[in-house]
Amino acid sequence: MNGSLRRRKRMTRAALPAAVLLLVSGAVAVQSTAPAAAAETTLRAAAAKAGLFFGVAASPNRLYPIVGQEFNQLTPENDMKPDRIATSSGGLQNTSGADTLVNHAQSNNMLVRGHTLVWHSQAGALQGASQATLNTFIGNAINRWGSKIAYWDVVNEALEDNNTGRRRNQWPHTMNRDANGDGDYFDAGDTDVIRDSFIRAKQVVQAGGYSTKLCINDYDVEGLTVQGGGPNRKANALYDIVRTYRQYIDCVGFQSHFNDNPNSIITNDLQANIQRFADLGVEVHLSEVDIDDDLSNNDIGAGQAENYRKVVRACLNVSKCTGITVWGISDSESWRSSERGLLFTGGNGSYQKKAAYHAVLDELNKGRTTTPPTTTPPPTTPPPTTPPPTTPPPTTPPPAIGCSATVSLNSWTGGFVATVRVTAGTSPIRGWTVAFTLPAGTAVTNAWSATASGSSGTVQFSNVSYNGAVNAGQYTEFGFQGTGSATGLTPVCTAS
Ligand code: G3I
Repeated sequence: MNGSLRRRKRMTRAALPAAVLLLVSGAVAVQSTAPAAAAETTLRAAAAKAGLFFGVAASPNRLYPIVGQEFNQLTPENDMKPDRIATSSGGLQNTSGADTLVNHAQSNNMLVRGHTLVWHSQAGALQGASQATLNTFIGNAINRWGSKIAYWDVVNEALEDNNTGRRRNQWPHTMNRDANGDGDYFDAGDTDVIRDSFIRAKQVVQAGGYSTKLCINDYDVEGLTVQGGGPNRKANALYDIVRTYRQYIDCVGFQSHFNDNPNSIITNDLQANIQRFADLGVEVHLSEVDIDDDLSNNDIGAGQAENYRKVVRACLNVSKCTGITVWGISDSESWRSSERGLLFTGGNGSYQKKAAYHAVLDELNKGRTTTPPTTTPPPTTPPPTTPPPTTPPPTTPPPAIGCSATVSLNSWTGGFVATVRVTAGTSPIRGWTVAFTLPAGTAVTNAWSATASGSSGTVQFSNVSYNGAVNAGQYTEFGFQGTGSATGLTPVCTAS
């Protein structure tokens, strides 16, 4: 955490007792002599107050004052990519642009996201390299900047386009081997560039004692669904990767290039998708945001400012969504200038704020949760006190041989995502099936980390190849998405 974030947290904590006092007094119309907290006037200050970073993609020739004034995180747009800094043997070269950006970030109290180590594109001299050479490069790059890099995109854009849910059929992913032919690369005998690159990166970070967190980054993974409501298979595939390699992966970047592509639109389930990754324990970042404002062929809804507001709100509403980065300062300097997707117009250091800027600032200033005003009057009599129990409360016995399952729900009007935890009893299990009886009108639309049978009425979910074996007392998780309501779902777990 940088100094400014830390300072803001301390200030927030210091302000807490007064707020708590007002709450316990039960006052509905709060009156206070203290001045109302002033809204912050820069994106970085408003974001820091809300407990997240707000960053920008930057290049050495565009380090204008606005970079340090408005943003507290920086991603080199091109200067840390392998085609800039890697030699064919995995060494480093031409790091001056990257060094300039890291130094600028340090002197402006900004976090840095390293972008990127393993990528099929802009690979330069590394194109076609073996895993061993990739590992050499991973080591050299991480060690060069150490903890000055808060987050590294270890693997970028590993998944195919067009919502297939498959890995790319391009180097370096052509090095993958599915030894037992079960359709994934998750088994011990398989070769997986993602796994091996993260294992290497984790080793380097641990050996160096760095605070750097390791991320996987991709696009078209933002929604649970794509245009038309079908499942987002690319997002589900990313979820399976993060879940399987959770011990090496600390963070996930949803690039968030929202545009006309039916897989890149802003869906109402963006927040639920952020939440399901957060539930795995990783940080989630919206890592390369731009939102198309070319309404001539626009499928994401008119009103760029409102679209920005929605996206920022979805992140703010999930505590482990810890940062948002826009992919450039101004429209004219963007890689997609014709889409006018950023927060400023102008260029060359002279910038004007757009409506989208004001919407983002306003939303950040509202903070993590917008608490609706309370209308419940304070209690006039104290609540009855419960006498202390004379006998100790019954302890819940561990699940017997077999398995048990619990469900946590993320619901919205007309839909939900269920995350199901399957816990083995007092003996290890080799496989499991969880059954539910869904209420009338409720249907399963897609599932991940399980095979579903049936979509309405009684539905069953069985383990997939890599998560059937669960040790005694341990658990695994799967999820499914549905339409309708899932209130009161009762899982029944059967082990084999
Ligand atoms: O610097 C040269 C310049 O000397 C030359 O005259 C000119 C001629 O075309 O090219 C310039 O390099 C360009 C470079 O951007 C710097 O502007 C490259 O051609 C161009 O391909 C490169 O595009 C970058 C693109 O990645 C390449 O894939 C964009 O700036 C960069 O914004 C974009 O970033 C990616 C993320 O890394 C991953 N996610 C998607 C995002 C957008 O594609």
